[in-house]
Amino acid sequence: MRAILATEPGGPEVLTVSDRPDPTPAPGEMVVTIAAAGLNRADLLQRQGFYPPPPGASDVIGMECSGTVAALGEGVSGWSVGDEVCALLAGGGYAEQVAVPAGQVMRLPAGVPLIEAAALPEVACTVWSNLVMTARIQPGETLLVHGGAGGIGSFALQLAQALGVTVLTSAGTEDKRAFCRSLGADVAIDYHHEDFVQVAKEHGGADVILDNMGAKYLARNVDALADGGRLVVIGLQGGAKAELDINALMRKRASVAGTTLRSRPSDGPRGKAAICAEVVEHVWPLVEDGTIRPIIDATFPLEQAAAAHERMTSGEHTGKLLLTV
Ligand SMILES: NC(=O)c1ccc[n+]([C@@H]2O[C@H](COP(=O)([O-])OP(=O)(O)OC[C@H]3O[C@@H](n4cnc5c(N)ncnc54)[C@H](OP(=O)(O)O)[C@@H]3O)[C@@H](O)[C@H]2O)c1
Repeated sequence: MRAILATEPGGPEVLTVSDRPDPTPAPGEMVVTIAAAGLNRADLLQRQGFYPPPPGASDVIGMECSGTVAALGEGVSGWSVGDEVCALLAGGGYAEQVAVPAGQVMRLPAGVPLIEAAALPEVACTVWSNLVMTARIQPGETLLVHGGAGGIGSFALQLAQALGVTVLTSAGTEDKRAFCRSLGADVAIDYHHEDFVQVAKEHGGADVILDNMGAKYLARNVDALADGGRLVVIGLQGGAKAELDINALMRKRASVAGTTLRSRPSDGPRGKAAICAEVVEHVWPLVEDGTIRPIIDATFPLEQAAAAHERMTSGEHTGKLLLTV
């Protein structure tokens, strides 16, 4: 099969089409013939050599795909060859085929075209697992989502609105802030010129913060939390190391969590398969009734993965970027 590999750590130009052996399914796995793969910000880090795949995962970049079932491994039931699916991957998405544990394969939400479904697994699983399973967000609470116009952000705004949450978010341009409001954000903050802490305090503090910035925002995020607030850090766009004022946390009875989806095991109560099962049960109905839609900025042919990486690096995109196979 053809796959996109980074020939060496570097810029988008190191992504080249290579030949790889066709995958075969191990027991408990399925092989999917890929129709489309979603881009994620971590893909840029992996290409640069900063985010190696977890042990045992494919070294081909790509953490989500949609496609059709091509083969079933020993012990896999409930699926047939030819079924249309989407899947959460530990790697291997920028390719014609991928082998994936069956628990990470999801049916398509009814009404979503096969290509567009590649935009859903990573954002749905990340946002659901962090807002609902980790932060236990409740209707009537206030959520601050940094970067509401990105892939994760645009999904988080829609899910939060569906959950009956007041949503504060931020974006870098007025066009993107208008886009965030159109997706259900109650307030869209200009992160270049406005202070999100002040805006959060005007709303009584944030009960939950979904943070992509890490170190750069840690102190201000803690300041922006309401009593009993939960800060969930999922990205390190502003660095990994910062000082934490534990006293400030204690006074608010607040908590800080950090999670990654990719490093979770497939099985177990908090594993990828458990998250996928919750997403199919709770999120797909919201996609099927139109409450949440996949937001796709652009699609590129697989061979143009470098151009897709350049677009994500530029930060001009809103929502998701896809590669079609
Ligand atoms: N831990 C996990 O399991 C997990 C899983 C998936 C993604 N993530 C993380 O989630 C983040 C978003 O990923 P993505 O794939 O959605 O990438 P993306 O589409 O490129 O989104 C990046 C976002 O960062 C925003 N941003 C840039 N500078 C900012 C600032 N100073 N303050 C606030 N926001 C800022 C951008 O806002 P503008 O576009 O308005 O400039 C954009 O919305 C990344 O950090 C990624 O690593 C984590």
